[in-house]
Parts: sequence; structure tokens; C-alpha cells
Amino acid sequence: MSTQNFHFNYRMYTHWNELYPKDVILIKEAFMAMDKAYAPYSHFRVGASVRLDNGEILCGSNQENIAFPSGLCAERVVLNYVGANFPGITIDTLAVVAQGELMPEEHLLSPCGGCRQVMLESENRQSTPIRVILVNQDQRTMIIETVKDLLPFGFGK
Ligand code: THU
Repeated sequence: MSTQNFHFNYRMYTHWNELYPKDVILIKEAFMAMDKAYAPYSHFRVGASVRLDNGEILCGSNQENIAFPSGLCAERVVLNYVGANFPGITIDTLAVVAQGELMPEEHLLSPCGGCRQVMLESENRQSTPIRVILVNQDQRTMIIETVKDLLPFGFGK
């Protein structure tokens, strides 16, 4: 028997406006996407944006359904859209923002387990890591350098 451990570094900012301009632009796009969320059941609005290697930005938001399992998280909306429309194109960064009373303002927001698995698949489809930017409701912002850090022991390669 041996005891193993998992450790990773992430960066924390007090506000996303401290980030480099291209990340600020990506986050603003995620906020605009969040405004398009369809969340009549949870009232929790999530926006996700990805910047591709070619600089293009694509966005998604959570889309709920009266038959609950039929809805989809914002991250999966945008990542599946990229997979479907831009196969072979590398994702550089994913940004996620959210708003709603489901979580207290100071709560650290991070993607659900299902989205992490989809993020991992997207990362494994390309040769470089996907950076992940998570913006809390109190504007504190976390940057994680690879999806692998968000899903240790994820299913797959
Ligand atoms: N949601 C996301 O869009 N992303 C996540 O990572 C977790 C949760 C959505 C799903 C649902 O529409 C609402 O937030 C409340 O769970």
C-alpha cells in the first residue's frame, strides 16, 4: 500500500478586470452569453465562452427544459458546438460566468462533474491544454491551466 496525493496550482484574482485584455474580452462575451440563458426553472444563469486558436470566440448558455434531464449546461452547449462545427480546431481558453440565487455570492463557482468530463474530452481531442477561467458572482476569478486539474481520475485517456 502507498498513499498518493494529487496537487495542482491555480491562480486567484480579486476581479477579472485584472486579467490580460484578451481574457477580459472573453469574459465579457461569457457575460453577454449569460444574458441569453434559458433558465426558467433554476433561475441560475450561466454563460460560457471559448477562444479558439484562430482567435475566434464562440459562446453558449444553459438551456433548461421542463423535462429536467433534457436541458444542458452552458459549458456543454458551447463545447459541443465547437466539436460539431469546428472539428480539428484547437480551443485555447474556456471562460465561465454565472448568476443566480442558487449559490451564495461568495461561493466558488466551478463546473459540474458532467461538464468536467466533456471539457476533458475536448482537451483530449487536441494536443494542447485548455485554460479554464471561472468567474464567481463576487467577481473573484480563478484560472486553471488544464482541464486535467479539474477532473483527476477522469474517465478516458
Ligand atoms: N449549470 C451550468 O450551466 N453549468 C454548470 O457547470 C452547472 C450548472 C446550469 C444547469 C442548470 O440550468 C442550472 O445551471 C442550475 O443547475
